[in-house]
Amino acid sequence: MKKNIKNICCIGAGYVGGPTMAVIAKKCPHIQINVVDINKKRIEDWNSEDLASLPIFEPGLGDIIKSCRNKNLHFSTDIKKQIANADMIFISVNTPTKTKGIGAGKASDLKWVESSAREISKYAVGSTIIVEKSTLPVKTALTIKRILESQNNKLNTKSVSQSFAVLSNPEFMSEGSAIKDLENPDRVLIGGEDQEAIKELINIYLNWVDFEKILTTDLWSSELSKLIANAFLAQRISSINSMTALCEKTGADIKNVSLAIGSDKRIGQYFLDSGPGFGGSCFKKDILNLVYICNHYGLDEVSSYWQKVVDINIWQQKRISHIVVDKLFRTVSGKKIAIFGFAFKSNTNDTRESPAISICNDLIEEGSNIYIYDPKVRELQIEKDLGVETNKKYSRNNDDGYWHYSKSIDETIKEADAIIILTGWSEFKKLNYENIFKLMRSPSWIFDARGILDPNHIQSIGFRFWRIGLGNQNVSQYFDMQF
Ligand code: NAD
Ligand code: UGA
Repeated sequence: MKKNIKNICCIGAGYVGGPTMAVIAKKCPHIQINVVDINKKRIEDWNSEDLASLPIFEPGLGDIIKSCRNKNLHFSTDIKKQIANADMIFISVNTPTKTKGIGAGKASDLKWVESSAREISKYAVGSTIIVEKSTLPVKTALTIKRILESQNNKLNTKSVSQSFAVLSNPEFMSEGSAIKDLENPDRVLIGGEDQEAIKELINIYLNWVDFEKILTTDLWSSELSKLIANAFLAQRISSINSMTALCEKTGADIKNVSLAIGSDKRIGQYFLDSGPGFGGSCFKKDILNLVYICNHYGLDEVSSYWQKVVDINIWQQKRISHIVVDKLFRTVSGKKIAIFGFAFKSNTNDTRESPAISICNDLIEEGSNIYIYDPKVRELQIEKDLGVETNKKYSRNNDDGYWHYSKSIDETIKEADAIIILTGWSEFKKLNYENIFKLMRSPSWIFDARGILDPNHIQSIGFRFWRIGLGNQNVSQYFDMQF
């Protein structure tokens, strides 16, 4: 398939479609890029004059939108027209875990991928390269090809010319550092059979990525590599998190352990930060999908091995809410708890699968009044995650359990019994904890589930302090030994 790519269409204006296309637009001013979505509000937000209203917060994204939007980067709901115009189409739609039917709770729901393929087959004109950007179960390219071919057969009888090449080009960026990752990827992976189509995609990346970093494989290795990469990353987090509990029991410090083991080149220093469990829209769903695929092929031992990575993650989240209740005299009923951070990690407004959701739900269930502060997450999002019925106004005597959205740190901590740090936003490191201590009720606790504060400093102020993976031996005389 020989082409000269002038027009790209991306189906799906989400956390991947938006930033990925923004970076291609920045690096390839000679290519027109149209990002389309069925979600009208999302498209309106992408087109918003006020950059603070973009649907996604990512460092550096606003600047690119400002310089490329309405020049060679466009956002619209005109799916039909943009598919018809495109030489290359990226499918960047959501692939969440199925909630019902066969494979519910494990398999990926591919209905949005299928509907994209059907739209493409209806509206594409001439030869078009289809690029799977979404994370997909291995062999999905075959499904896409079959849908495209079936429509193609019908159209050919009416002498409308269409031809397709399907490539897999999984995305490895992380939220919070998406622009940096996209501009300087560790590798770009392209799987496919059609060598001309592969060359076209390589040519786009060559505008800013070194040739040596572009790996080409068969389709199935490419699709599967994405799932396996996420499984390996999540496995490291579950491994280190499982050891936080052991450090706490034995008087060791997980930070020292991470440093010691990570200095071994064979282990490596990255992804060894312990925390409240991994969140985000992908790790859990991708491992569950891998578990499902292994089961499907009768590889039960392999599937149970990877299932444990998810199990430990759930256990870690539960462990943190139990510790908080335990330390606060085994009851949080009617107590005010300040939650620092609701996003699943810092530098993003994304809350999908955030550990904060499960931990806050547990504390509300226990009757505590939680005040949530996050620099980027909006109240409406927290309402979607926790439910509107538990969003109430503060009163110390209310032991029904509810949450309240705080616009400022001061409101969050005033008369609070405890602070729980659930997202590692850098602003939480820089706060004046002496002043905060004065405004809280005594005894005042800090639970640092992200390990961002200095225990000696915090305890010297007078706080009771718990930090993930820090055993008794390392804490000063202020540590409360009675529990
Ligand atoms: P998202 O939910 O933020 O965005 C997906 C968008 O696709 C939505 O706006 C939705 O309205 C739109 N959409 C669905 N069906 C459509 C259709 N038929 N036509 C037009 N628009 C349609 O999801 P996301 O986080 O961007 O993830 C997309 C894919 O990328 C997933 O497969 C995910 O696993 C993968 N991925 C995500 C990340 C990440 O950091 N979020 C990183 C790498 C890979
Ligand atoms: C992850 C992968 O890192 C990306 O390569 C991949 O493209 C993406 O998933 C995807 O497929 O969606 P992301 O979920 O955006 O990216 O962010 P990560 O930095 O991987 O963090 C995931 C979760 O693990 C967060 O909750 C984070 O706080 C946690 N984490 C991460 C730790 O607890 N410790 C660490 O050392 C690293």
